[in-house]
Amino acid sequence: LASIDVNVSAIEPGMSLTVKWRGKPIFIRNRTAQEVEEAKEVPITELKDPVARNQNVPGDALATDLLRSAGEDKENWIVMIGSCTHLGCVPLGQAGDFNGWFCPCHGSHYDTAGRIRKGPAPENLHIPVYAFSSDDVIRIG
Ligand code: FES
Repeated sequence: LASIDVNVSAIEPGMSLTVKWRGKPIFIRNRTAQEVEEAKEVPITELKDPVARNQNVPGDALATDLLRSAGEDKENWIVMIGSCTHLGCVPLGQAGDFNGWFCPCHGSHYDTAGRIRKGPAPENLHIPVYAFSSDDVIRIG
């Protein structure tokens, strides 16, 4: 199936972009250093869903900030499928009690790493197969 290339060079820290891929919204966010720090400080034991839900790491990997992000030197980047894991509404960015995403349909709050923290959604927002093909371009799929 088709991959898409997204140039992210214009997305400054604190900004985000939504693109469409296979009919679904994909959230791309360049997180601020503070947002990354906040997400890193959360103990795994506090998470409702401790699994990374990241197709780029092993299926049993834990939902640490690093394993939810684009990796070591790109931990500021997060790429996710924009579909609430409750019933599939599209969450709103930079919203909710954890300043991550908020799903207005039934009130699910996700943190800055897209992990479910409060509300009825059972799982963290899912992360599609993707990789940086250069410093500026993310290939999704
Ligand atoms: Fe998001 Fe129900 S679909 S909270």
